[in-house]
Amino acid sequence: MSDPARNPETQGAAGGASPSMRHESAPLHVSGSAVYIDDLPEPRGLLHVVPGLSTKAHARLVSVDLDAVRAVPGVVCVLTAADIPGENQVSPVGRQDEPLLAEGEVSFYGQPIFAVVAETRGIARRAARLARIIYEERPAVLTIAQAREAGSALVWRPLVMSRGDVEAGLAAAPRRLSGQVTVGGQEHFYLEGQAALAQPGEAGEMQLWSSTQHPTETQHMVAHCLAVPSSLVTVEVRRMGGAFGGKETQANTPACLAALAAHRIGRAAKIRLDRDDDMLMTGKRHDFVVEYDVGFDDEGRILAVDMVLAARCGWSADLSGPVVDRALFHADNAYFYPDVRLRGEPLKTNTQSNTAYRGFGGPQGIVAAERVIEEIAFATGLDPLDVRLRNVYGTGTRNVTPYHMTVEDSISADIMTQLALTCEYRKRRQALREANRSSPYIRRGIALTPVKFGISFTATHYNQAGALVHVYTDGSVQVNHGGTEMGQGLHTKMVQIVLREFGLREEKVRITATTTGKVPNTSATAASSGADLNGMAVLDAVHKIKARLVKFAAEQWNVSERSVQFLPEGVQVGGQCIAFQDLTKAAYYARVSLSANGFYKTPKISWNAETGRGRPFYYFAYGAACAEVAVDLLTGENRIERVDILHDAGLSLNPAIDIGQIEGGFVQGAGWLTMEELVWDEAGHLRTHAPSTYKIPACSDRPRIFNVALLEGAPNREATIFRSKAVGEPPFVHGVAVLHAISDALASLTAYQTCPRLDAPATPEQILRTAQRLRQQAAH
Ligand code: MTE
Ligand code: MOS
Repeated sequence: MSDPARNPETQGAAGGASPSMRHESAPLHVSGSAVYIDDLPEPRGLLHVVPGLSTKAHARLVSVDLDAVRAVPGVVCVLTAADIPGENQVSPVGRQDEPLLAEGEVSFYGQPIFAVVAETRGIARRAARLARIIYEERPAVLTIAQAREAGSALVWRPLVMSRGDVEAGLAAAPRRLSGQVTVGGQEHFYLEGQAALAQPGEAGEMQLWSSTQHPTETQHMVAHCLAVPSSLVTVEVRRMGGAFGGKETQANTPACLAALAAHRIGRAAKIRLDRDDDMLMTGKRHDFVVEYDVGFDDEGRILAVDMVLAARCGWSADLSGPVVDRALFHADNAYFYPDVRLRGEPLKTNTQSNTAYRGFGGPQGIVAAERVIEEIAFATGLDPLDVRLRNVYGTGTRNVTPYHMTVEDSISADIMTQLALTCEYRKRRQALREANRSSPYIRRGIALTPVKFGISFTATHYNQAGALVHVYTDGSVQVNHGGTEMGQGLHTKMVQIVLREFGLREEKVRITATTTGKVPNTSATAASSGADLNGMAVLDAVHKIKARLVKFAAEQWNVSERSVQFLPEGVQVGGQCIAFQDLTKAAYYARVSLSANGFYKTPKISWNAETGRGRPFYYFAYGAACAEVAVDLLTGENRIERVDILHDAGLSLNPAIDIGQIEGGFVQGAGWLTMEELVWDEAGHLRTHAPSTYKIPACSDRPRIFNVALLEGAPNREATIFRSKAVGEPPFVHGVAVLHAISDALASLTAYQTCPRLDAPATPEQILRTAQRLRQQAAH
């Protein structure tokens, strides 16, 4: 496999710039001049907002005495629910279950009750601690087990997907087993925490700069809270210092608090959450408990699957419904289940309201699917890779998902086979097993797992985007679109599309900050769909301007429209070549509009949640990863020795950026499954609320050998932007290979006779517990 990042001619968008054009903000990032919310020049009279948080998980608020807070010199005011002119509500899904500031009761430890507005951030922080709050505690439901026991409410109607007759299929299967897998949550740990700056304008206008993935929703929330029309509120975001789903809805509360302070006092107000407050307040990845019952045959072929996927959702619905749905959508991963029933259980708990996080529930479903594969492998004595290959979606009748969508292009088998060959999976697996026999403490393991990830928002109406492109008379171009930049390189890809279409060089095109004032009614930049949706909208806008220029040039120089072409050398008009800027200037004098908006909506998709049927995804992104690990049986520590990934980005828009997404996604996924652990105490206090107690992967945790390749010559069969595929979330799933490699290493303790049933995160403690259990099993 060649390295497309180093060989820019391999694939991707040509035109004025190289396909692997560097990130448009790279020089700014590395020189420290990229501007984030807290770097914006501070307006005169800026106030600072700090929230006061609940210290009980579930309680009635008997009294909230804020006199001592107000008395601190420098405190300008203290905001409570009573100060909200509009709705005290930030539910992103219209559930009315998420007050901005607690009123009457608190539902989790960390819930904002009030907000201090002060002349400096230090004053606000110190003053916030002086609140005297009397709580009347109520029983708190913290975990999935407790929620089930207490008969806790569901935050969303539970989705059921089924096809065939699962009871009959299970009963008729020659072999059957059942079990349970637990998979932990995850803190987003974006480098830039939640932040917003609000500046009041004339006649009730409010301008916000917010670190948000969803400027339109932030605009709506602020408008509702302030009881003003959306037309008075403008939300802008230049870039986020990472988001990972953690700013899809969670940015709304900070933005509303800043706007509320600005509205109330009539001065600009900024909020920048402390890391501890950020971790205590905001939702995280959902942890899941999945129960599975599977019927199969002696050849390892799956015949029937029954699964219940229960999630800890936290105190409000937020995005939990769609997240649990997406876990169901991916509980098949790449495998065909002949008879199947999948049920979701989105449980309400007195914890942070869990939310979007890279993969949006999909990875949790995939962990369950891969556990089932692993169980079958141990039950039949087959290599897990063979069980995988025997069950992947194929053609004919074995290509319909549990939600009745046909998989038209299953390439999982090809990708796994290709990767297994290039990374010598079978040879290495054999060698590791032999080496383990003479290694008492260090055990090695290997696993190769696939990913099939559905691309599109399952909320169909979200699959639309807009763009606004301006060409100036000097031939330079300004590009705006509805997507937001969080480091993933979306803006770079949008610039590349414009360069390619107009035949321009990089310095001619400037991408502006995302703002609701330029492109309205946008969707969140999420579901990996940023480039797919906005790319097509940008293309649409560019095509409109090109069509006008072509028509103008053809008339002006008396040639046919077909003989006008935009090339890197300039615009070919019949026999002559005209500089782009000369053409645009001439067009301006001829009164031709050089600005256009673009729009796109994804074709072909539909979804009916009532029947559990439809085509929720435009297409699937595929890939496979092979991980080799070494586990220390004395300490439980593990090390990733080698990882090989083959990933399908279609015809990559930017191979260098896509490889970066795959590397970063893998590391984040491996961190989730091996070291990141959220711990709440019995009072519902999240004790891992800072980097001192919450461990994310460090540079030294990356694989010793890390080979990442893009699947070559694999254009998207659907007509996406230049036949590329979305790449933001799917590679996160490659971390699953590490969990299974650790499991494989531990299986050596029972001479590979029993499935280790290793739960995630596979922290050293978890590894030691599992090793002990396996040793006991082996002794019996
Ligand atoms: N990459 C970086 N560097 N930072 C991020 O915050 N978010 C991920 C992914 N890659 C993220 C990232 C998530 S959760 C999504 S949905 C996609 O990027 C969103 O961007 P896209 O749709 O443009 O791929
Ligand atoms: Mo990504 S979790 O869809 O923001």
